[in-house]
Amino acid sequence: MQKVTFHDHRPDNLSFYDAVIEGLSRKPKSIPPKFFYDERGSMLFDRICEQPEYYPPSVECRMLSRLAKEIASLTGVGHILIEPGAGSATKVRLILDRLRPSAFVPMDISFDYLKSVTRELSQEYPWLPVHAVHVDFTHSLPVPEEVPPGRRLIFFPGSSLGNFRPHEARSFLNLIRDTLGDDGMLLIGVDTKKKESLLNAAYNDAAGVTAKFNLNLLHRMRKELGADLNPDTFDHRAFYNARAGRVEMHLVSRVEQELRINGYSFHFSEGESLHTENSYKYAPEELMEMARNSGLTPVRHWIDKQGLFAIYLLMAR
Ligand code: AVI
Repeated sequence: MQKVTFHDHRPDNLSFYDAVIEGLSRKPKSIPPKFFYDERGSMLFDRICEQPEYYPPSVECRMLSRLAKEIASLTGVGHILIEPGAGSATKVRLILDRLRPSAFVPMDISFDYLKSVTRELSQEYPWLPVHAVHVDFTHSLPVPEEVPPGRRLIFFPGSSLGNFRPHEARSFLNLIRDTLGDDGMLLIGVDTKKKESLLNAAYNDAAGVTAKFNLNLLHRMRKELGADLNPDTFDHRAFYNARAGRVEMHLVSRVEQELRINGYSFHFSEGESLHTENSYKYAPEELMEMARNSGLTPVRHWIDKQGLFAIYLLMAR
């Protein structure tokens, strides 16, 4: 069996506590979406991906299976394959056999995910060395020193780029560009702009899983920070904001109330919202323009027949 290594670059930036205190003090109130992903949040996200209304995972997986051979013919084989926010690493399995990377470097903020993923991958792909990195990838992409030199391919599926604000997305693409060096490539999946009704349905699934995922942030605040609040007094709200080109998720207070954490008190008026996520959608031209500005040249892109989702292959210049 191939070697598996773990590297800890624990998030040393804002802790959950700091982010909550800071975010609840803002006007309007907001908390960054990366705090959704505790163990329960990660599990709920996996369940969102199984909901029929949430089309991105199924469309992207179908595309990756169909395109794997063509992608490999464009990238070549034997790269160091890096996946920021690898999660349960479902999608990478669709391209591993074709890409035959010389090493796989999954990065994730959740140590639980990394542990199970590396265990599974080393059983399923005994030829593949795995170097797992525990890190908040939104700030750095630290490739461990023992990873051998070689051309790098960054795989960033799932439209996670959409959870950054446009200026942060640009910085992240710059970080990717720096990590790739001069001969690397980026394979990225990004959700497209489309009919509002489809987007609204995708973030308001009938089974209520997205609502649970959103409300889990309040459960997490109660459990981890001892917050004095009742999650039942908040509603999940998600809608497409066409002007900004993004789906927004909010937690809306049903009543006027005080939310108390460790001696701090935060006032919510009835109907006041806590903004928990933006999910930006990009037209292919917008995405490629942004990538070019970060030193990434489009090689090819693919859009599914219904125009629901796009995959881009870009080359570091
Ligand atoms: C992880 N990310 C790309 C998802 C999205 O669509 O923005 C997170 C999500 N939020 C609600 N549903 C899914």
